[in-house]
Amino acid sequence: MNKILFVSSEAFPLIKTGGLGDVAGSLPRALQKRKQDVRLLLPGYRSVLAQIKQPHVVAETFHYGQRIRIVETLLPGTRVKTWLVDCPAAFDRPGNPYIAADGHDWHDNAFRFALFCQVAVDIALNRCNIGWHADLVHCNDWQTALVPALLDCYAQRPATVFTIHNMAYQGLFDKQTFFTLGLPHVLWHPGGVEFYDQFSFLKGGLAYSDYINTVSPTYAHEIQQPEFGYGLDGLLRHRSDRLSGILNGIDHDIWNPGNDLHIQYRYSPRTLKNKTLNKTELQTALRLPVDASIPMIGMISRMVEQKGFDTVLGALHELVQWPLQIVFLGNGLAYYQNALTEWAKHYPDKIHVRIGYDETLSHRIEAAADLYLMPSLFEPCGLNQLYSLRYGTLPVVRNVGGLADSVCDTNETSLANNTATGFIVTDNKPATLISTLQRALLYYRNPDVWRQLQVNAMNQDFSWQQSAEEYLDLYQQALENNPKRVA
Ligand code: ADP
Ligand code: GLC
Repeated sequence: MNKILFVSSEAFPLIKTGGLGDVAGSLPRALQKRKQDVRLLLPGYRSVLAQIKQPHVVAETFHYGQRIRIVETLLPGTRVKTWLVDCPAAFDRPGNPYIAADGHDWHDNAFRFALFCQVAVDIALNRCNIGWHADLVHCNDWQTALVPALLDCYAQRPATVFTIHNMAYQGLFDKQTFFTLGLPHVLWHPGGVEFYDQFSFLKGGLAYSDYINTVSPTYAHEIQQPEFGYGLDGLLRHRSDRLSGILNGIDHDIWNPGNDLHIQYRYSPRTLKNKTLNKTELQTALRLPVDASIPMIGMISRMVEQKGFDTVLGALHELVQWPLQIVFLGNGLAYYQNALTEWAKHYPDKIHVRIGYDETLSHRIEAAADLYLMPSLFEPCGLNQLYSLRYGTLPVVRNVGGLADSVCDTNETSLANNTATGFIVTDNKPATLISTLQRALLYYRNPDVWRQLQVNAMNQDFSWQQSAEEYLDLYQQALENNPKRVA
């Protein structure tokens, strides 16, 4: 049984802003089921600690003049032991984990997540006497990326695995910040955390972890190219023998139309009629024209450039001429929020926009819609297309990253051999999205073919079954090749 410290800045259901939360909420459980001794380490944000009924402090440590308490709990709904880093100066504040109310990053993010990383190191090495030391530390995204770098400064240390969920977020700060944080000077060089005279958290993970992986095979390939590598493609090519792609799984207990508690009418491939009832229910609730025959398109997303909102906005003038309904749920950049809200004001019968974060509504949209829109410019994995497949809501996706690895375009061949599960948009032009949707709607008009496509989609298995096994293999390699393993 390996002792795995799983370090993440979010995990569902305690805290989630996007797919990282889903993965950190479900992969540890999948690993635990495979006999791993997994501990999850999370920041003790105000909203997270508020959910803990009887905080049980198991250890204390000090960094940056702060007294830090480690609160132990179970990840709700699971048996995964979870440690929360309770440091009010870093985490006791309202709102989003990364962004202040003014829409900008919290001014002290470098301090907050450096502190989080320092605590992860303490725990991994059993320096705060919890009585548990890690064999392997699994870090996720830039907020945790200093952990492999800091651990590498020790003569003996656990093995390290770093997962890239999104290269677009790098934790880039100025040089002074590195020195102000009192980080080991040996890390400051172009092969370390220095990135063109700036301080990159992400490079800590990329340069120092024993193994790197990302969340789909195609994205693992893409980030080694200049177009998707953000200047780090060279380093990734250099480490390509230690870089792989493992597609995310989804939690079938949470995302399952057969037992989803958020939706009114549960369904399976055999009871697809109930899916239509969910559509009627949502049309009624959102005051859209109630008509089961009108195709409904859903989109649930952080409203950022990555997700292809420019393509969508460029296509709307045409789409609103068609008999269809589009339901958007999301929040993010004011520009996208405002532009979509304007469209909804002008076309209330066609477009519904809900600005905000709403877990229940996200399930209801997945259950109600016929098509799911995800024309991302890049997509490390993407979870909503996986949820959509499971809900028989055919995804319309760009052929990038995990989207390319999970959706099979509908054409004569894929229809004939029942592998067709969605529709691929081949570039970022609004005209291409329009023609792809046109193509999709032709199939929609043929109920038998559409039902077959839905069944194909629903029969796909993107549970953690296979991906968790791939993580176990990766851990095994990392454990065997740890140059500094404790003898
Ligand atoms: P990313 O991590 O880049 O945001 P993913 O597709 O991997 O993209 O995961 C997004 C997750 O966040 C999904 O579970 C999606 O349903 C959820 N989500 C995004 N925006 C919202 C929102 N406004 N309300 C509810 N859930 C949301
Ligand atoms: C990131 C990516 C998304 C991925 C998620 C979980 O936020 O943008 O594609 O699914 O992480 O790995």
